[in-house]
Amino acid sequence: MTYQKNILCIGAGYVGGPTMAMIACKCPQYKVTVVDINPERIAQWNSDNLPIYEPGLSEVVSIARGRNLFFSTNIEKGIKESSIIFVSVNTPTKTFGAGAGMAADLQYWEKTARKILENAASSKIIVEKSTLPVKTALAMERILTSNGNGVRFDVLSNPEFLAEGTAISDLEDPDRVLIGSRETKRGISARDELVEIYANWVSNEKILTANIWSSELSKLVANAFLAQRISSINAISALCEKADADVSEVARAVGMDSRIGSKFLNASVGFGGSCFKKDILNLVYLCRHYGLNEVADYWEGVVRINEYQKDRFVLNILKAMFNTLAGKKICLFGFAFKANTGDTRETPAISIAQKLMEENAELVISDPQALENAKNDLRDIKGEITYIEDPYKAVSQCHAIAILTEWDLYRNIDYEKVFSKMKKPAFVFDGRNILNHKKLFDMGFNVYSVGRPPLTHFRVD
Ligand SMILES: NC(=O)c1ccc[n+]([C@@H]2O[C@H](COP(=O)([O-])OP(=O)(O)OC[C@H]3O[C@@H](n4cnc5c(N)ncnc54)[C@H](O)[C@@H]3O)[C@@H](O)[C@H]2O)c1
Repeated sequence: MTYQKNILCIGAGYVGGPTMAMIACKCPQYKVTVVDINPERIAQWNSDNLPIYEPGLSEVVSIARGRNLFFSTNIEKGIKESSIIFVSVNTPTKTFGAGAGMAADLQYWEKTARKILENAASSKIIVEKSTLPVKTALAMERILTSNGNGVRFDVLSNPEFLAEGTAISDLEDPDRVLIGSRETKRGISARDELVEIYANWVSNEKILTANIWSSELSKLVANAFLAQRISSINAISALCEKADADVSEVARAVGMDSRIGSKFLNASVGFGGSCFKKDILNLVYLCRHYGLNEVADYWEGVVRINEYQKDRFVLNILKAMFNTLAGKKICLFGFAFKANTGDTRETPAISIAQKLMEENAELVISDPQALENAKNDLRDIKGEITYIEDPYKAVSQCHAIAILTEWDLYRNIDYEKVFSKMKKPAFVFDGRNILNHKKLFDMGFNVYSVGRPPLTHFRVD
């Protein structure tokens, strides 16, 4: 089989896998290979048991895998064969040295650049898919031109805006595709080649081109703005709880202003996921690097409010349950950082579980997709934690339920049945405001939500 183009992606994670599956699915004329240093991950991509859960992903993979989509550990061969190389390796927050806890850890990124340099015998376009600090492309260019063997590399920035849980629909019908390039003749010609790939299924007006530094920065800013909206409404939820206002009513009234808009205004236990916190901290680090301390402080506040919201949620549980959780059984409904994913990276559930355990509570954790990750996340925590997927079994003899992930499953279960299995007085702490609180209250639950007055069968002082 001859293909029009050979495309490689280095990094077969939450971004690399789905993104390349979509390109392969939409463009049968290209050969798309995804490589990774983790052989287990590659074996899973080649099996029926994909390494990540994402609605619609297995259908897209099964259309293209073996036809023009391949998963492999042979990184060297992939580099040699391809003219376009996407890099979507992880870029976590640095945990050591200068910038620890703030700056992006670019070691995986740099190793990839060196690997490309070692193995490339012909010119290539390198596409930054990972989220990176501004000016990473410059470092990439410097590494790639360091051996002077005449092989040319053009580096493009093409940040990924997909959201986990809706990755496939986001990739199929994106709000926009952003491609940043150098404004040189070569840069523009490389950019046009990438535009041509996306134009197979994305309309031209949604493909934005920009200067490469704007493109790198836009991804950090987009995540910072999204997280800022969550922290803004969560900050207001704290005030609503004091002032007997209802944050959902406030959000509705505010969000109907077309200048503000209604999305991302749901108060909750806080944001999670591998990106928001790390990308904001990265932005903060960049601002401090350039001496923009006021700007850095402003964005750092978004992360601070998120921590505050998680702490507040646990303190509210403690206070509502008569200031002691020792020996009480609390069931967490949901552990993933959001619905429709098994991803638990930075999920608020981790720190909430830790804090509840510090109060000597017993935990039962339920989640339809994230239990394996949850076990791994909490493996070093001492105390009694059980993991039960079936929510009806999970709540047996529990004193309280805390809703931590907005899975539809938890909206739709029979709470009369749940109530009958729980210890009394039974509590629900709805950390996502997804349940019908009045109905639960009428069944006998004491109901606490985020940013709304509680509904309790006790006198509230
Ligand atoms: N997860 C998201 O929702 C999302 C969305 C947009 C952007 N991003 C960004 O995309 C990037 C990747 O994120 P992810 O969630 O896919 O991460 P991930 O951890 O799921 O995947 C990264 C993969 O890269 C592999 N890898 C690391 N070093 C390698 C090397 N030298 N050679 C080959 N493979 C290597 C790892 O084994 C891993 O499988 C990050 O920069 C992230 O910020 C993530």
